[in-house]
Amino acid sequence: MIDTDLTFTESELNEVINLFDGADVLKIKHRFKENGTKLVNTVTIDGKVYAYGNLVCSFKDEIERKRLVKRYAKLSLYKGLSRYLGVELPWGALTGIRPTKLAYQQIEQDGDFTEFFMDTMKVSEQKTTLVKQVLEQQKGIYKKDDDNTDFFVFIPFCPSRCKYCSFISADIKSAEKHVDEYIDTLINEIEHGKQFIKNLRSIYIGGGTPVALSDAQLERVLNAVDKVNTGVEYTVEAGRPDRITNSNLKLLKDHGVTRICINPQTFNDKTLKLLGRNHTAADVYEKYLMAKDLFSVNMDLIAGLDGESVDDFKYSLDKAVELSPDNITVHTLCIKRGSYLAENQNRLSGGEVSKMVDYAKEMLYNAGYNPYYLYRQKYMAGNLENVGYTKPNKACVYNINVMEEISSTVACGANAISKRVYNGGERIERAASPKDVVTYINKLEIIKQQKEKLFF
Ligand SMILES: C[S@@+](CC[C@H](N)C(=O)[O-])C[C@H]1O[C@@H](n2cnc3c(N)ncnc32)[C@H](O)[C@@H]1O
Ligand code: SF4
Repeated sequence: MIDTDLTFTESELNEVINLFDGADVLKIKHRFKENGTKLVNTVTIDGKVYAYGNLVCSFKDEIERKRLVKRYAKLSLYKGLSRYLGVELPWGALTGIRPTKLAYQQIEQDGDFTEFFMDTMKVSEQKTTLVKQVLEQQKGIYKKDDDNTDFFVFIPFCPSRCKYCSFISADIKSAEKHVDEYIDTLINEIEHGKQFIKNLRSIYIGGGTPVALSDAQLERVLNAVDKVNTGVEYTVEAGRPDRITNSNLKLLKDHGVTRICINPQTFNDKTLKLLGRNHTAADVYEKYLMAKDLFSVNMDLIAGLDGESVDDFKYSLDKAVELSPDNITVHTLCIKRGSYLAENQNRLSGGEVSKMVDYAKEMLYNAGYNPYYLYRQKYMAGNLENVGYTKPNKACVYNINVMEEISSTVACGANAISKRVYNGGERIERAASPKDVVTYINKLEIIKQQKEKLFF
């Protein structure tokens, strides 16, 4: 915890400290002074003093003043910690989850983002280039329009819980008594939600594991979504190969689904078993062969999984490339402090995980894939990022819209967050539903009212 006299930016300063391994035990003091147009930030780390002054032009208004005061306070703390610990981080002082959105904002403001990223925020050249490549891939899809709408449906159940998972979802066996009631509530919310759609751009049924549902349950959800579908990109995050069958694939196809996820995470059976995923690499091959002529397929991999070496990850990446799905998404393990894995796993250094993501980028590029969206999370191994790669003309519109926040989202289900964008995302209003399934079921009428307030 930082000792700062800029209390309105205390949480952001703590985020900067969290970027550095082991920095949370240091004694850090931060003092701020404003001399006309000069902002002076003094950072004291275990007795060592680092002072930074930044000249700024006059502020347009108080909002802009606060934004710049925050920015330079964070940057000074980053520079102080970087010097004290002798490390530079790939994303420099950036703590936000959407570096590409920030790049677009800088381009709108100054015509370019690279100088701001590299000189001001200390982002590495490699990550700045990655952002540039993502923006390039988004050309033709990236379109700011407040009427554009994506439709999201959440299924919060899984066949079993994976030990590394950071998402909210329940084991379907233990939640069994609530599943049918959840679907009744969800269908009600979907039917209510369709009135808020203006220009539908994509549909995404995510999880959890949507195919953890029985065929009859899944069909009820698909029937409800049919009333919304107008032939747009339609993804179902099928996810777990152990739950994909010929009959649920047929159901998805019959209902107009165009894209599914079949997620290996790793092709090493030993790791899959250790993590409680209850499927093997052979299941991925088998289910991919069943699905590949019916749908565009995405595969998720995770770099930095418990017990995996750089070579283990390279093996998985090579196997995914051999299968050649349209999209491959490379996540970097993200473990919240205090979680099961944070306590138990033999964690790799950030440098090792960095070798994995660098290898992925190179091999995927050589195989004809390009990065088309990226995001960061807190507590990511090596302070890295998640990157979605795509073959030409196969980028997922939903992922781009949601990451860049350039369209509105009508979201249904527990833990779903509906968003309405104004002025191309300059301002965003949100309505979030309860995370817990039973609370969601009980609060449906309130959730519907909140959405009406948001969209009307
Ligand atoms: C919302 S999950 C749903 C996927 C689906 N249930 C499955 O397991 O195949 C989406 C993706 O997030 C990634 N993920 C989950 N927990 C993660 C973690 N702790 N760190 C990094 N990636 C994670 C996995 O790659 C997963 O496929
Ligand atoms: S199946 Fe997917 S959502 Fe469910 S626990 Fe495993 S990784 Fe998380």
